[in-house]
Amino acid sequence: MTNILAIESSCDETSAAVISNGKVLNNIIASQSIHQKYGGVVPELASRAHQKNIVSVVHEAMESSKLLPHQLSAIAFTRGPGLMGSLMVGVSFAKGMALGLNIPLIEVDHMQAHVLAHFIPKQEGDSIFPEFPFLCLTVSGGHTQLVMVRNHIDFQILGQTQDDAAGEAFDKGAKMLGLPYPGGPLIDQYAKQGNPKRFTFSNTSMPGYDFSFSGIKTSLLYFLRDNVKTVPDFVQQNLNDICASYQHRIVEMLMTKLQKAAKYFAVRDIALAGGVAANSALRDALKMKGLENNWRVFIPDFQYCTDNAAMIAITAHYKYLRGEFCGLDVSPMASFDTPASILPTPK
Ligand code: KG4
Ligand code: ZN
Repeated sequence: MTNILAIESSCDETSAAVISNGKVLNNIIASQSIHQKYGGVVPELASRAHQKNIVSVVHEAMESSKLLPHQLSAIAFTRGPGLMGSLMVGVSFAKGMALGLNIPLIEVDHMQAHVLAHFIPKQEGDSIFPEFPFLCLTVSGGHTQLVMVRNHIDFQILGQTQDDAAGEAFDKGAKMLGLPYPGGPLIDQYAKQGNPKRFTFSNTSMPGYDFSFSGIKTSLLYFLRDNVKTVPDFVQQNLNDICASYQHRIVEMLMTKLQKAAKYFAVRDIALAGGVAANSALRDALKMKGLENNWRVFIPDFQYCTDNAAMIAITAHYKYLRGEFCGLDVSPMASFDTPASILPTPK
């Protein structure tokens, strides 16, 4: 019996999960609402909240697993990327526990874990997983990456954002519209009643499979500034259409690169990960393109899209099987050096 306790603390969710022989037993998440009033995650407040929550979150995961600490085989944790102060809390806690129990430590790359969330069985005996090789678009408040997944370990980053993440574009756009943080879900909600073709926002075109969301943000900023000058309540009068048009453009930018990669690499299985995977327009666009192109489309349950320890646990499970452990001298890494794609890019 292999039982692993996994801890995730890279940003603003403190989470712990226990996995037993590849079966996720629980996924306890304490979200931090403190950031709402600041309009974004405040790193120092995030690490303080992790420090406050971590003992009770781990305790709850252990209690609901019905396992005793001495029955654990290893402790896994997110090493990075993420906020340094937040990572430190999870890493230190994991080290202390592994040392106390004299069991191995497993470091997990948060981005790899977002992708491997697709391998968390939904129910007993579930075996409907993406087949290798597949493409995964990971889109969240902190990341936007297009990855070619060749097996559980062999990942190739085809492209990523060179500035803001897609979720940031949603949240910062929402902030300009006077909506509270995180504004992504609200843009999604207002957009449902809006016309996505009413306004056009320009964007920066990027080579290969990279993304850039700073251009569209600036485009929204100037658009609002110019219109509010002549019609002071322009935003209130046109909120649904602005949200629909802005969202439409972001989804289009993501889908363009995804389609280009799927075509070039002739991949049939396409997966979505990260908090922005909850966006209804993105989901619909992916499903529609899936039907058109004969793709099989995979979107994990929402609890496994946003930051969570279950995805750390499933990644740790595969690492445990390969005997990939780390020493107590391991330290968190706010970012990893990800080599740019060396693949030829189709014109
Ligand atoms: O994965 P996640 O929980 O945390 C990060 O690692 O960042 O993603 C959070 C992001 C936020 O930017 C939030 O606005 C965005 O996901 N998000 C959405 C939706 N739901 C969450 N963006 C657009 N539409 C949604 N429905
Ligand atoms: Zn994440």
